[in-house]
Amino acid sequence: MLPMSIPFGVQTILIRAAKVEEIVPLRHRILRAGLPMEEARFEFDEAPTTCHVAAFKGFQAVCCATFQLNAWENEPAFQLRGMATDADWQRRGLGQAVLQYATELVLEGSPVRLFWCNARVPALEFYRRQGWVERSEEFNIPTAGPHRKMTRRA
Ligand SMILES: CC(C)(COP(=O)(O)OP(=O)(O)OC[C@H]1O[C@@H](n2cnc3c(N)ncnc32)[C@H](O)[C@@H]1OP(=O)(O)O)[C@@H](O)C(=O)NCCC(=O)NCCS
Repeated sequence: MLPMSIPFGVQTILIRAAKVEEIVPLRHRILRAGLPMEEARFEFDEAPTTCHVAAFKGFQAVCCATFQLNAWENEPAFQLRGMATDADWQRRGLGQAVLQYATELVLEGSPVRLFWCNARVPALEFYRRQGWVERSEEFNIPTAGPHRKMTRRA
């Protein structure tokens, strides 16, 4: 899939597939602040079926998302992980654009059509706006607070 560029005044943001090394610092800053950097790495980051996408300002990732194969209720599915936008870039449409680009990228290369995630409660509206649906009650993840499971079918 071709990279996508989004103009922001004089700046241009480029959305493209990313290497995990390019997004770990952003994940750490936004999702694992105060914890060791290793906490921003996920078990299946290096799997060939895992797909990382990020929005870049120059060489710096300012928004990122990862899809890894992980079944939902025994059905093949992609789990969305590490969805994060740099604090200075939130509410400017990048999260939505990165998630959409990542979804198209995995749909292009796989027959899997089901997506799920553990959504942080403050981010529920972000996912709802993109067609995701709550599928669980609230539960707590000690390092990251209250969550609900959500799914989306393409
Ligand atoms: C959740 C997150 C990834 C959203 O990224 P973003 O780049 O700010 O999202 P977008 O600008 O593309 O938002 C698209 C739409 O989603 C909704 N939305 C996004 N953030 C929202 C919020 N905090 N509260 C309510 N609605 C929100 C809005 O409808 C928004 O459109 P609008 O700004 O025109 O109203 C970002 O806020 C973030 O990194 N938060 C901290 C980490 C986190 O919670 N990650 C998710 C883990 S499950």
